[in-house]
Amino acid sequence: MIEVFVGDITELEVDAIVNAASRALAGGGGVDGAIHAAAGPELVRASRALGPIETGSAVITPGFRLPARHVIHAVGPIWHGGRQGEAELLERAYETSFERALGAGDVRSIAFPAISAGVYGYPKESAVEIAVRVMRRHEKEFRRIVACAFDERTGTLYRRELSVRPK
Ligand code: APR
Repeated sequence: MIEVFVGDITELEVDAIVNAASRALAGGGGVDGAIHAAAGPELVRASRALGPIETGSAVITPGFRLPARHVIHAVGPIWHGGRQGEAELLERAYETSFERALGAGDVRSIAFPAISAGVYGYPKESAVEIAVRVMRRHEKEFRRIVACAFDERTGTLYRRELSVRPK
């Protein structure tokens, strides 16, 4: 089941939350900052040790002080206008996140922020369309997939995309 939640991803009681990380995996602002602040300083030590990683890839660490047991750190592309493989890289960031979740063996519920759709500048409508397409591909492998929006406008975009019949 794919659900939409509007609010702070760090509060979600799911097995894994996905972080919109930087290649260095060293923490940052936005959702990355919120996740690191809530998880505590152990998280930056654990994640930085696994970096740097390529855009479009993802690694998994414990969630430390978060309600979620795991954090999957995925690196989405920086938007450069759309002709530098951004869509494929964003799709890959979602795909590799699902791979990490399945590889953990105990992840039945997972929540995603809108990767790349903040500081990295990816247009929200297109980012949401890609996110939902990949989520649908993996829907049957999980009990819950949560599309976490931080504002109502993005929540509406997810709801609209989910109401459209898959192509
Ligand atoms: N919970 C859920 N979503 C959030 C939260 C939160 N606590 N905080 C921000 N968001 C939303 C933003 O509104 C945006 O829609 O997450 C989406 C992704 O935005 P960013 O966090 O800016 O991520 P991104 O665009 O992928 O940029 C990644 O930003 O913080 C740095 O280290 C990070 O360099 C990396 C870059």
